[in-house]
Amino acid sequence: MELGLLPVLILCLSASISSAELAAKVGVNYGQLGNNLPPPSQSVKLIQSLNAKRVKLYDANPKILATLRNTDLQVSIMVPNELISNISSNQTLADQWVRTNVVPFYPGTLIRYLLVGNEILSQPNKQIWFNLVPAMRKIKAALKTHRITKVKVGTPLAMDVLESSFPPSNGTFRSDISGSVIKPMLKFINKTKSFFFVDLYTYFPWSSDPTHIDLGYALLESKNITVTDPASGLTYHNLFDQMVDALIFAMKRLGYPDTRIWIAETGWPSGGDYDQIGANIRNAATYNRNVVKKFNAKPPVGTPARPGAVLPSFVFALFNENTKPGPSTERNFGFLYPNGSNVYPIDLSGKTPESEYAPLPVATNNKPYKGPIWCMVAKGANQSAVASALSYACSQGNKTCDPIQPGGRCFKPDSLAWHASYAFSAYWSQFRKAGGSCYFGGLATQTIKDPSYGSCKFPGAKL
Ligand SMILES: *[C@@H]1O[C@H](CO)[C@@H](O)[C@H](O)[C@H]1NC(C)=O
Ligand SMILES: *[C@@H]1O[C@H](CO)[C@@H](O)[C@H](O)[C@H]1NC(C)=O
Ligand SMILES: *[C@@H]1O[C@H](CO)[C@@H](O)[C@H](O)[C@H]1NC(C)=O
Ligand SMILES: *[C@@H]1O[C@H](CO)[C@@H](O)[C@H](O)[C@H]1NC(C)=O
Ligand SMILES: *[C@@H]1O[C@H](CO)[C@@H](O)[C@H](O)[C@H]1NC(C)=O
Ligand SMILES: *[C@@H]1O[C@H](CO)[C@@H](O)[C@H](O)[C@H]1NC(C)=O
Ligand SMILES: *[C@@H]1O[C@H](CO)[C@@H](O)[C@H](O)[C@H]1NC(C)=O
Ligand SMILES: *[C@@H]1O[C@H](CO)[C@@H](O)[C@H](O)[C@H]1NC(C)=O
Repeated sequence: MELGLLPVLILCLSASISSAELAAKVGVNYGQLGNNLPPPSQSVKLIQSLNAKRVKLYDANPKILATLRNTDLQVSIMVPNELISNISSNQTLADQWVRTNVVPFYPGTLIRYLLVGNEILSQPNKQIWFNLVPAMRKIKAALKTHRITKVKVGTPLAMDVLESSFPPSNGTFRSDISGSVIKPMLKFINKTKSFFFVDLYTYFPWSSDPTHIDLGYALLESKNITVTDPASGLTYHNLFDQMVDALIFAMKRLGYPDTRIWIAETGWPSGGDYDQIGANIRNAATYNRNVVKKFNAKPPVGTPARPGAVLPSFVFALFNENTKPGPSTERNFGFLYPNGSNVYPIDLSGKTPESEYAPLPVATNNKPYKGPIWCMVAKGANQSAVASALSYACSQGNKTCDPIQPGGRCFKPDSLAWHASYAFSAYWSQFRKAGGSCYFGGLATQTIKDPSYGSCKFPGAKL
């Protein structure tokens, strides 16, 4: 009897260990929104040098998928947002997408996850929200048609799918998607044994409310802060766990308490604009090393609502991507510069002990910068694009461009760059508080050096 039991025991044990190990491996997001990134062959070597075991693409780039062939990297590919509406009502198109983008590379390339769109439920166009789950079903059916069984179908969503996340036990999906989109999605995920893929950043809630949220709590660094959820009685030591559990409670509210979660993106920017608090190398290295340690922990630590659960993940991101729109932080999430050197060292296997890393630079922007900040034309900006942005800025706000009219205090020097810098600063100083940005499609950049000259005073934005 003992002899008979033993192999069964060993089998169970090794099965559970290997599935835990399989899932715990940390992957990396390989975004390509840069005009200076290395070719796939070099990028794949860099991914391996970070000890990533998985890689997530934002498309199904055939060159990259061919390069990944015969590596041991597991791969996640993505159906572009633009195709979702058509795929949702056309099985032939779904079949065709799988035939073109998966079949030529499978199984040589270890494609394991097929994500349908990116953060679709954060898009202003609501029509596409309701096409999302039908498109996921069609893609799943197309994989089945092609006898591809190892690929999980999902879709990465941002945390704005929740309308309430605090305390975590009050986690609730937005009412405009809860019944119509999320519930059928959870049913699909359950039926297909897939995952709820979520993009989760403690950086955003912390940076929008740094006085009430402790930085160490957001960086998974705090030793002394505990937040107790009065309804569940669960105790939190970091913001990451709190956010994951809010999602778990929201799913529970819809009748799917056991849906597995996959962290599709998480990270912290290593640089940003003057008005972006806490974006620095010290915080980025600290957050990412801490979260990677958590993901790799053996046995898995999970979260207060799911102690011991494995949290599979893709951290964000491989490279700094210089053509990403938005505030400067968006272009500074990478572990690597485009030339392949480290922004800061990181080991995604979590095996490098803290003590082996060189000291990190001191953080100088962990407190809000109060201003003033001016918004100037960026070096090398396209002249005709600057001219259009100038007329746009002048058409906004109150008397925005009066001083740069002929005879005005800021008319001279009479150059496009000077006038546009004035207009950008005057625009931004009026609209910053309402969410206006100093970006103008990459034509503008912030400065804290007062550009005012003679009797011409540039308006500066204050926080
Ligand atoms: C979607 O289908 C319509 C009608 O067949 C077509 O005109 C359109 O180009 C398609 N959209 C995309 C993004 O392929
Ligand atoms: C469905 O997609 C196929 C393949 O792209 C296309 O030929 C066909 O016209 C589409 N059907 C409809 C109804 O749009
Ligand atoms: C719980 O969430 C609801 C919205 O879903 C919100 O109205 C309510 O204020 C939240 N409760 C607490 C205690 O924050
Ligand atoms: C699917 O839902 C059932 C019922 O809630 C649950 O027992 C099961 O664990 C779920 N399966 C997955 C893969 O989430
Ligand atoms: C936690 O410790 C830090 C550093 O010692 C200190 O600044 C902070 O006030 C403490 N917070 C609490 C809630 O005790
Ligand atoms: C790579 O680029 C970074 C950022 O531009 C720079 O600081 C670093 O010196 C470069 N490294 C090499 C080896 O060229
Ligand atoms: C400059 O911007 C204009 C539109 O504003 C565009 O048509 C043109 O292609 C751009 N030139 C370069 C070199 O990017
Ligand atoms: C423009 O002036 C009006 C009236 O003084 C004021 O209500 C409005 O807020 C101003 N707009 C901006 C962008 O400052």
